[in-house]
Amino acid sequence: MACTALTLYLLRAGYTIPLLGLGVYKNNENPTEACLAAFRAGYRHVDSAMRYGNEAQVGEAVRRSGIPRSELFITSKVFNSSHGYESALAAVDKSLATFGGDGSQYFDLYLLHDPTAGKEKRLGAWRALIEAKKAGKLRTAGVSNFGTKHLNEIVAAGLELPAVNQIELHPFCQQKDIVDWCRKHDVLIQAYSPVLRMAAGKIDHPTIVKVAEKVRSSPIVLLACAQ
Ligand SMILES: NC(=O)c1ccc[n+]([C@@H]2O[C@H](COP(=O)([O-])OP(=O)(O)OC[C@H]3O[C@@H](n4cnc5c(N)ncnc54)[C@H](OP(=O)(O)O)[C@@H]3O)[C@@H](O)[C@H]2O)c1
Repeated sequence: MACTALTLYLLRAGYTIPLLGLGVYKNNENPTEACLAAFRAGYRHVDSAMRYGNEAQVGEAVRRSGIPRSELFITSKVFNSSHGYESALAAVDKSLATFGGDGSQYFDLYLLHDPTAGKEKRLGAWRALIEAKKAGKLRTAGVSNFGTKHLNEIVAAGLELPAVNQIELHPFCQQKDIVDWCRKHDVLIQAYSPVLRMAAGKIDHPTIVKVAEKVRSSPIVLLACAQ
């Protein structure tokens, strides 16, 4: 498959997600300009989170870009401190208000950032995202950093499955059990840290360099597209 910022994947919910996105974790100096530069370069997908503290600046970039909202794919996430049904419902509204302000906004994808709040709050928060999706506030809902135990809990509770599980994924962190589970259940795996921020210094591993040379690419492009 071609790997460009405009390559689309179909999600189980029927919407499409651009294969490559700009992650704005720790991008707090000028996230608006970073997003605008990415849009000019052809990106249409930004990955933010309540925890990153830059939902407002991403929203500003969306409005300043002049690109129709329907052509952009914006993700945000709610951290474990706001898990539980009521807290997560309120968090969606807070994220939307920060991102958009005028009440007409939605997120294309909204994730439970992590599974660490405990089973009850985890499932409560997941129910809240399903409700927010029904209310039109979210196009699709998903999870992040969920292991097979957490995903099986959702199945056992009889709830719909997430569209996406965003996990650390690269050659030094393959998480095969989670990848297999998600493939089997049609949950899209979204790789974070694909170009090895979490495995610094390994970009010039001989195998990566060799494969990159073989496909006439660079290690960075190889890793970004290998996901
Ligand atoms: N859901 C979660 O819990 C979670 C966790 C982590 C990340 N994420 C998401 O995933 C996104 C990306 O992850 P990440 O920032 O952890 O890791 P990453 O994308 O693997 O690594 C980013 C780092 O790679 C280096 N880099 C990027 N392009 C390069 C190039 N062309 N040449 C050389 N080095 C290059 C830069 O390092 P230098 O700055 O040192 O130059 C950059 O800071 C985040 O922004 C966030 O949206 C989600």
